[in-house]
Order: sequence, then structure tokens, then C-alpha cells
Amino acid sequence: MTDERIVDALRASRRVVFLTGAGVSAESGIPTFRDRQTGLWERFDAAELATPEAFERDAPLVWGWYEWRRALARSAQPNAAHRAIAAIGDRIPNFTLITQNVDDLHERAGSRDVVHLHGELGRSRCEQCGLEHRDPAGRVASLEQRRIDPPRCRGCGARVRPGVVWFGEQLPEDAWQRARDAAQRSELFFVCGTSSLVQPAASLTDLAIGAGALTVQINPNLTGIESTVSVALRGSAGAVLSEILAATWGVR
Ligand code: OAD
Repeated sequence: MTDERIVDALRASRRVVFLTGAGVSAESGIPTFRDRQTGLWERFDAAELATPEAFERDAPLVWGWYEWRRALARSAQPNAAHRAIAAIGDRIPNFTLITQNVDDLHERAGSRDVVHLHGELGRSRCEQCGLEHRDPAGRVASLEQRRIDPPRCRGCGARVRPGVVWFGEQLPEDAWQRARDAAQRSELFFVCGTSSLVQPAASLTDLAIGAGALTVQINPNLTGIESTVSVALRGSAGAVLSEILAATWGVR
């Protein structure tokens, strides 16, 4: 049964924030990073694939890996969690969706103005002049770890790089600012499908706690922040959020 505090807060709150992570896309078949056996960082070495140094060292290896992830995301469909979050967003006057995910499944489920803290797979950019290259290669599929030369910038001819945040890089400033502002002003804050291990994204939950928001974690596993949030719900994002939507507005 859905916690009454959540139902009441959803009906009464004007400012609601969601912080989502890879777990929200897991039910769409996109692997998370740290889940045992299936997580990307269990199978691949982040230092070889997701750092500026890796791209310097072996750009085709890195680009090929992102092409593979782009193909995975493109063939995936939004799931019940993405749809429930979009439906909640439609019912709240001041709603902010912050995601660490680089796929576009939130948008494809109908969410608007999504704050992408870690960039987007579909928005690559020139590593020299910064010109954006949307969905650059447009290739349909690529094999895991196939080496592919990155395309060249149509403006200056330099290499195009994935538009994602790599380890050791700063978050996009505007996205981070929007995320901080929303967390600091939130009345109800959901932290959903994330291990809450990666900073500074995870610190948004602390900002919401500091703001006095009701904080709700949704995760099938323990993450370690259970004692700091107001409510910790164990379960998959799709099932838990569908139930919250039904209990609050009767939407099924
Ligand atoms: P993680 O892989 O660290 O955590 C995924 C979380 O989702 C775990 O806590 C799982 O228990 C949970 N989970 C799995 N299935 C779920 C489901 N069906 N419903 C709800 N939760 C589920 O992924 P993130 O926390 O998103 O950064 O990782 C944060 C960042 O670390 C990523 O954005 C990425 C990675 O390195 C960059 O690439 C910069």
C-alpha cells in the first residue's frame, strides 16, 4: 500500500522534484552501471571508456562503445516508470525532473524540460569548437566495443566527442544550476533508481533534506541513504510509481 505521506504530499505540493538514475531505465532493458553481473562497470573498465584520457588514447574504441550504447537506447522503449513520472509531472504546477541518464526515454514518455546532469547520448559536440552534432552518426546498430572513428565537425573539422560527462569532468553548468535550485526549493523529492554513489548528483538529496522536503527513495536494493530519507520504498520503479499514481489520482 502506498504511504499516505506520499499521497498527501503529491496532492498538496506545488514543487516536486525527481532525481533519477540508471535503475529507471533498467526495465527498458538498458543496463545499469553498478548492479552485480549486469552493470556496465562490472563488464567494462570506466577508465578505458569514460574519461577524457581514454578518448585521447583510443578515440575509436570510445566512440564505438558510445555507438553501441546509442543503439541500445534507440531500440529501447520507455517503461512504466518513465510514463508514471511524466504523468506526475503533468499534474504538478512546478515539477522538475533531473536525470543522470544519458538516454532519452524520459522525453519519449512525454516528460518535458528534463535536466540532464550527465549529458545526452544524442547530443555530441566538437571537441575543439563545441559545435553540437545531434545524433551524429545516425547509424542503426553497432556491435559492442566495435571500433568506430568519431565523425569530424562540420564546422571546423576537428573530432566530435560524445556529449556526455566523463569521469573527471564538470557537470554542464546550466543543468547543475537548475538542479540545485529545484532541490533547494522542493517540497517533495524523489530519488529513484540510483545508487546515490556519484557526486555531485547524490548531494541533491541532501539539499532537499536541508530544504525540509519529504524525501522518498525508490529502489529494489539498499543504497545506504535509507536512514537519511523520509521514506525508503523497496521495489522496482515501474511498479512502485504506478502504484503511487493510482493511489494519488486513480490513474492506471
Ligand atoms: P547505478 O548503476 O550506480 O545504480 C543503479 C541503481 O538502480 C541501483 O541502486 C539499483 O539497485 C537500482 N535499480 C536497479 N533496477 C531498478 C529498478 N527496476 N527500479 C528502480 N531501481 C532499480 O546507476 P546510477 O546511480 O544512475 O555517470 O549511476 C550514476 C552515474 O554513475 C551514472 O550517471 C554514470 C555512472 O558512472 C556517468 O557516466 C558520468
